[in-house]
Amino acid sequence: MRCIPVIIMGKTITVNYGGSPCYTIEIQTDFRLLPEKLKNLGYGKNRACIITETNVGELYLKEIEDLLSPVFASCTSFVFEAGEGSKNTDTVGKVYGHLIENSFDRKDVLIALGGGVVGDLAGFAAATYLRGIDFVQVPTSLLAQTDSSIGGKTGVDFMQYKNMVGAFYMPKLVYMNISTLKTLPKRQLSSGTAELIKHGFIKDRAYTEFIQGHSSSILAQDSQAIEEMVYRSCQIKRGVVEKDPKEQGERALLNFGHTIGHAIEKLSNFTLYHGECVSLGMVSAAYISCQKGNITLEELETLKQMLAAHGLPVTLPDFPHTPEEILAATKLDKKMESGKVKFILLKTLGEAYITKELSDSDLLGGIRYIMETGAERAS
Ligand SMILES: NC(=O)c1ccc[n+]([C@@H]2O[C@H](COP(=O)([O-])OP(=O)(O)OC[C@H]3O[C@@H](n4cnc5c(N)ncnc54)[C@H](O)[C@@H]3O)[C@@H](O)[C@H]2O)c1
Ligand SMILES: [Zn+2]
Repeated sequence: MRCIPVIIMGKTITVNYGGSPCYTIEIQTDFRLLPEKLKNLGYGKNRACIITETNVGELYLKEIEDLLSPVFASCTSFVFEAGEGSKNTDTVGKVYGHLIENSFDRKDVLIALGGGVVGDLAGFAAATYLRGIDFVQVPTSLLAQTDSSIGGKTGVDFMQYKNMVGAFYMPKLVYMNISTLKTLPKRQLSSGTAELIKHGFIKDRAYTEFIQGHSSSILAQDSQAIEEMVYRSCQIKRGVVEKDPKEQGERALLNFGHTIGHAIEKLSNFTLYHGECVSLGMVSAAYISCQKGNITLEELETLKQMLAAHGLPVTLPDFPHTPEEILAATKLDKKMESGKVKFILLKTLGEAYITKELSDSDLLGGIRYIMETGAERAS
């Protein structure tokens, strides 16, 4: 029988930390190279624990276990209930329990298989178990592949506060199989797209134009278009976290749309998805940018059209809270400095900047814009 060589494509991005190469991001269309990448990191005699949740576990755990069992001395798994409700210190405690029962020591490794909830939680468990053991990110949601798995922010929610307890802790490898996006629910996919579109708005006009020009192939999940988009977003996120690993300056640009977005997300009791709220927050912030004379009305319309084309909301007509209540909720955001909200505005569609100089009436103007333009359309 003739043997047909298998050509595996894919892209690699190296992330530096403190000026030296720290880990790579592997963008692939299947999981086949994961064992090799792990062996290249020197794993072999170690134990591995795959941490995942019920939804992703059902789909991919068996495949990953089969691939990783030959690589490690032993391979266990820990599966928790899917959803943000599990991202807390109770679940982390259960992970510690599993690791202790299975005699995990400092040379062993955690594999985070799932969306941002798994990555944040497993990363935090890895950062704190025995004062730090290795972990590898295998992100499966669009948000996790282009955002949460890169940059080393790990953590869990505490009481009613999101991401209140955490650590900056770098993975040893980020390996993504973009084919996993095919099983991601459509609403989750479009919610994740908000962050990719955001990357273009804050940093890269050419990328914004790419997304604009390829929206139909992106929506049809054409794998080349998705791969290119994931790759470009990962590069932007990489660039930002390399320059500002601990979020003291430039990394704040990634919060474009998030101040008002987080407030809406919280007030909606998380019935609106994160990316949907970020989309609304970006429209508000873009309106304020327009009011400040930075972007034109046409650019504001372009931004709205791009978000709407990907199934994201750009108006909030029937929200059961007033603009003043949304404003009050923005002030509870952690990202405040000496009582002032750090806000991200656009200079152009492709360049953002940080300001602390916005008044309450500027913010209210942005919030009213999404609520009232929606109401006008609805009536
Ligand atoms: N660390 C960071 O820098 C950072 C950045 C942004 C967001 N986050 C965190 O990320 C979390 C949100 O991430 P998320 O949107 O991935 O949420 P998630 O992990 O809850 O995943 C969203 C949903 O999609 C499902 N899912 C994931 N991959 C799937 C797949 N391939 N097929 C089918 N279903 C799949 C999950 O089971 C879940 O129901 C939040 O907790 C947020 O705080 C962290
Ligand atoms: Zn976000």
